[in-house]
Amino acid sequence: MTVKDQVCIVTGGAHGIGRALAERFAVEGARAVVVADLDLEAAQQVAAGFGGMAIGCDVSVEADLVNLIETVEYAYGGIGLFCSNAGIGMEGGLHVTDAQWERIMKINFMSHVWLARHLVPRLLRNGEGAMLQTVSAAGLLTQLGSAPYAVSKHAAMAFAEWLAVTYGSRGLKVFALCPQGVKTALLEEASHGSMNFLVDSALDPSAVASAVIEGLAKENFLILPHPEVAEYFRRKATDYDRWLRGMQRLQTETGIEQLMKP
Ligand SMILES: NC(=O)c1ccc[n+]([C@@H]2O[C@H](COP(=O)([O-])OP(=O)(O)OC[C@H]3O[C@@H](n4cnc5c(N)ncnc54)[C@H](O)[C@@H]3O)[C@@H](O)[C@H]2O)c1
Repeated sequence: MTVKDQVCIVTGGAHGIGRALAERFAVEGARAVVVADLDLEAAQQVAAGFGGMAIGCDVSVEADLVNLIETVEYAYGGIGLFCSNAGIGMEGGLHVTDAQWERIMKINFMSHVWLARHLVPRLLRNGEGAMLQTVSAAGLLTQLGSAPYAVSKHAAMAFAEWLAVTYGSRGLKVFALCPQGVKTALLEEASHGSMNFLVDSALDPSAVASAVIEGLAKENFLILPHPEVAEYFRRKATDYDRWLRGMQRLQTETGIEQLMKP
């Protein structure tokens, strides 16, 4: 598929990967690009750059997602591509509080469930439409130094897979975007802690947007801006114990082990 002449929505579109996606979709000739974000002011600035629409939206609130879908449908008609991209990082392991777990699970995981609840029936009714979830390589592998990020992204991945299995044959297109490090505020905030080893291979958000355009064209479920992630994922599946030992070594070498006090 292409985004040309499609109505595209990007959550977390005010900054980072989401911003790069929104701007690229506009360049590719999307009929409308909607930038949805908690940070409405920044979303408005991004949307103004290409004559798009900005909508304030907290993806951890189901009613906000319903409002987003309904506002866009009212303005432009059927949604062609919804990028459920907003997400947060969070360092820590055993000492992460229940409130923090709840917060990250709502933003990184439940947002996709709430979205699908309201969007999937509409897309199936329209007979077309695609959903892209920004997951992470952490959803296929793990995240050193961050239990909540690893777990919330695995949950998001499992849900994307389940959507593809359950509704793919009825025409729903589902994509899971799984980058490693990308040069955004999220990586910057964690670059001295759990994500320090990802900085060297980090991509510009525009490179991730290019990978998305290519992935959509090929209609491959998994979009990997860092192709080496496919090999890591294969190694994990073929020899789990060896993979675990390798990750333990990496945790020691990167100094992240020191951060994970029991
Ligand atoms: N940067 C990386 O290294 C990296 C790697 C893999 C996956 N990801 C994923 O990419 C996605 C985008 O992250 P990014 O790196 O561009 O980060 P970012 O911090 O640059 O941008 C995130 C955007 O989401 C918005 N946002 C945060 N919480 C929100 C909420 N509750 N509702 C609506 N908007 C909200 C922020 O305002 C911001 O505009 C996330 O899902 C993240 O987990 C990032």
